[in-house]
Amino acid sequence: MKLPSRVKLVDVGPRDGLQNEKQPVPAEVKIGLVHRLQDAGLTEIEVTSFVSPKWVPQMADNAEVMAGIQRKPGVRYSVLTPNMKGFEAAVAPARAFWPDEIVVFAAASEAFSQKNINCSIAESIERFAPVVEAARAKGIFVRGAISCAVGCPYEGDIPVERVDLVARLLKQIGVQHVGVADTIGVGTPVKVQRAMEAALKHYALDDVSGHFHDTYGQALGNTLATLELGVWQYDTSSAGLGGCPYAKGATGNVATEDVVYMLHGMGIDTGIDLDKLIDAGKYISDHLGRKPNSRASTAILNKRAG
Ligand code: HMG
Ligand code: MG
Repeated sequence: MKLPSRVKLVDVGPRDGLQNEKQPVPAEVKIGLVHRLQDAGLTEIEVTSFVSPKWVPQMADNAEVMAGIQRKPGVRYSVLTPNMKGFEAAVAPARAFWPDEIVVFAAASEAFSQKNINCSIAESIERFAPVVEAARAKGIFVRGAISCAVGCPYEGDIPVERVDLVARLLKQIGVQHVGVADTIGVGTPVKVQRAMEAALKHYALDDVSGHFHDTYGQALGNTLATLELGVWQYDTSSAGLGGCPYAKGATGNVATEDVVYMLHGMGIDTGIDLDKLIDAGKYISDHLGRKPNSRASTAILNKRAG
């Protein structure tokens, strides 16, 4: 086992976590979550998406949320931009409000690509290419996501060759980092390792991350399995919020609290204050009127309550 000594977590709660909420979450609450996450020591936060408000109404306040953040030095703020329209909107305000990083999101499944972004995999790559070029010309880092890297709600099991192909295509258009995403949380440790290894054919270990939804309770195991490959960057969601509107029944990403608890217990540094993180997760869960979807959070909150 070549476990990393330090892991970087990107909290995707404000974006992946909230995008599926039916009731509108006010921009000030989203901003409040971002502020609490950065105070807890998160160094990257996926804030919002510049996508069609008809497709994902919850992210329609993207510009307002980006503008409301009191930026903390050393923290990177990322947003999803599936096309030039989204990218141009993300950089329309003054430079101070630009994201540090954008995410283009492809899929290893043709059916999911059609449902999620209304085009084929090949067409998505064609759409992303000018976005990547424009972002890099402005010094904005470009991350890519490969959805359905192990399984798809429409196509079932996805062969690793598809992850290999999509990672190669993303690399060819200049995407700097790739996230291997188990969108519907069906992956199990060895399958997820194989998908990650396919991405690692095209990207260095420092340029890959895991993005594991926890629908089947496998995400912590999948995190550990890929840590064993040396992967040290993961997307996680505070309070385990979320799901993708185009992956029915899929739950949120693995809770940031649970991953931090596991990593700290293994002596792996994250730079995150677990107590403050739990407060951040509780803040957003209270707003949503539910309990945090995190075992570590539940245990620690129970302990606090005596
Ligand atoms: P489309 O309908 O093919 O786009 O949608 P279009 O170019 O034909 O334009 C149609 C209309 O949308 C036009 O407006 C455009 O102006 C507008 P109209 O003339 O009808 O009034 N439009 C936009 N508006 C705002 N921002 C934009 C934008 N683009 C077009 N960027 C599109 C294509 C990609 C826009 C659409 O399919 C979409 O917005 N999809 C949303 C997908 C999404 O956000 N999914 C959830 C995030 S991905 C995810 O959760 C997975 C991830 O977590 C990893 C994992 O777990 O797998 C990342
Ligand atoms: Mg996701």
